[in-house]
Amino acid sequence: MSAPAELRREVAALVVRHLDADPDRRLRSDRLPLAVPSFGSAEVAEAVQVLLSGHITMGARVAAFENAWASWVGASHGVMTNSGSSALAVMLAALVQTGRLARGDEVIVPAVAWSTSLFSVLSAGLRAVLVDVDPDTLVLRGRFDRPVLAVHLMGQPCEVEAPLVVEDACAAAGAKVGGRMAGALGVAGAFSFYFSHHVTTGEGGMITTSDRELADACRSIRAHGWARDRSDRERLERLHPEVDPRFLFVTPGTNARPTEIQGAFGVHQARRVERFVRIRNANHRAWCEIVEERRLPLRVFPQVPGTRHAAFGFAMLLDEDAPVGRAELCRRLEARGIETRPISGSNLARQPAVRDLPGVRVEGPLPVADAVHERGFFVGQSHAFGPEHGEFLARSLADILAG
Ligand SMILES: Cc1ncc(COP(=O)(O)O)c(C=O)c1O
Repeated sequence: MSAPAELRREVAALVVRHLDADPDRRLRSDRLPLAVPSFGSAEVAEAVQVLLSGHITMGARVAAFENAWASWVGASHGVMTNSGSSALAVMLAALVQTGRLARGDEVIVPAVAWSTSLFSVLSAGLRAVLVDVDPDTLVLRGRFDRPVLAVHLMGQPCEVEAPLVVEDACAAAGAKVGGRMAGALGVAGAFSFYFSHHVTTGEGGMITTSDRELADACRSIRAHGWARDRSDRERLERLHPEVDPRFLFVTPGTNARPTEIQGAFGVHQARRVERFVRIRNANHRAWCEIVEERRLPLRVFPQVPGTRHAAFGFAMLLDEDAPVGRAELCRRLEARGIETRPISGSNLARQPAVRDLPGVRVEGPLPVADAVHERGFFVGQSHAFGPEHGEFLARSLADILAG
C-alpha cells in the first residue's frame, strides 16, 4: 500500500529543504549557538539511500568511514562505535584484554575531563588517579611515571610523555602535536561524533590505533565478543572448528556498534573535517587576540607553539576579582544569544558521582581544576563562525563586565 499523498508531499518537501542545506555557509554574527549542523545534502541523501536499501545495520559505509578517518588521523585502523563514550570504554577494555594494561593498574586522568573519560577507566578494571591540569592549557602537560589518559579537552592537545599514552580525543578531531594528529599520538585514541562536535553522525564514536591486535580486540568487544569482524578471523575459526563460525565468541564483549545510517553520514563528514578544523583553528587564534585586546578580567587559552588547537569550544576563566560572577555572566551572555556551558565536568573530584568512588584517588592539590570549577565556562566554536563572531563575543563580554 502506498503512503498517503499528504505524507508523500511532506517527505518530499523535507528532503528538498535538507538538500538545499549548506554546511559551509557562515552564520549571522549576532548570535553564538553552541553548535551548528556540520552536514548537508550529501549526508542526507546517503542516509536516505541506506533507509531505502533496507540494510540499516553496520556495513560497507561504516567500514569506508573507518578507513577514511584512520587515514586522516594517520593511524592504521579505525573502529567505529555508537558514541564517544563507548569508544573510550571499548578502547580501555581492549588495552586490558590485550595485556597493554593490567587490571588494577593506575592510570593518570586529568581532574578536568568529561565524566565518561573517568568512568571508562574504572569500567575496564583500572584505577584512576586524578591530577591537576596545566594552568596555561587546562590539559595535561609534561612527563608522567604511569600510563596516562590524555584528554585533549576543548580541542587543546596534551603534550605528554608517559610509559603508555591513550587518548581521549573526543573533543579534539584534528588537534596536532608536532605535526602528528590526535588519535595517533599514543597507543590508541577515541573520538566522538555527537552533534556538537567537529563533525557528526548524530551519535557516534571511533577508536584509532596502529596496533593490529588492539584493533582486533576492539572489533570483538564492540560486537558481542565475536570473531566475525577481526583480521585474524580465519585463524580463530580454524582453531575452534567445533563452534559454528557465525557465532564464534572469542572475548568478552558488548554491543557498541553504530548503524549504517551513521556510517552514511561519516563517509561525507570525513571529507569535510579538515576544512572545518582549519576554520575553527583560525577563528580560535583570531578570537584569542580580539578578546585579549579588550583587557577584560578573564583568561583565554591560546594555541601553544608547535601544536594545532582543534578549537572544539572557546574556553574562558573569569578572574577571581571580576566584577560579575560566572553564573551572572553566563546568564547575561545567554540573554544576548551566546550559549554557554561549564568546561566539561569541571573538577571531576567535586562531582557527586565521583566523590568517594572506589577506584579513584586524587594526587596532589587541584587549584587549576578548582578555578575551572568555580570560574570557567565556554562558548561554542564552529566552521560557520568567523572573526566577526569573535568581535560580537568580545563586545558582549566587555559590555557585561563593565558593570
Ligand atoms: C572529552 C570528552 N570525552 C568523551 C566525551 C563523550 O562523547 P559522547 O558524547 O560521544 O559519548 C565527550 C563528549 O563531549 C568529551 O568532550
